[in-house]
Amino acid sequence: MRPIHYDLMSTIVPVIIVAGLIGLGIHSFAHAQEYPSDTTRGKAVYERHCQKCHGVGGWGDGPDAQALKVAPANFHRFSSFLKSDEELLRTIEHGVVFSPMHSWRGQLTDGEMQDVVTYIRLLAQQGR
Ligand code: HEC
Repeated sequence: MRPIHYDLMSTIVPVIIVAGLIGLGIHSFAHAQEYPSDTTRGKAVYERHCQKCHGVGGWGDGPDAQALKVAPANFHRFSSFLKSDEELLRTIEHGVVFSPMHSWRGQLTDGEMQDVVTYIRLLAQQGR
């Protein structure tokens, strides 16, 4: 006599695995929908709000940079490169005290801040 649970397991286990895979797929899709970090959108945000200080290529040499007491960050510097995305995000979100780099919270959405970090990372990889 074949044990009955054998059949049950051989049907249920694949069903659970497939359901799990579908679930994962939906989850990552939904997540991607929430934050599709997008360099095109990041570029638009950067050109509009950041370029005048940080410069077209992210070298910290935008047209407004000379008038500032504190030089805008050059994203190609090693110190900048070593920072995590979260650290950069925090600076963008909260700004730097006593610095022309003010907080962008309220002016940019979370998604826009993510996008602009992605774009900064892209700039930092490009040469002159
Ligand atoms: C008025 C000029 C100005 C504008 C506009 C500006 N920044 Fe800055 N930013 C600075 C300055 C100055 C610093 C350096 C702050 C310090 O170290 O005191 C800085 C620093 C940063 C840093 C930290 C980099 C590091 O290595 O720690 C990031 C990230 C950054 N800016 C992103 C942005 C983004 C994104 C925008 C546009 C949404 C933006 N900045 C707009 C002046 C500006």
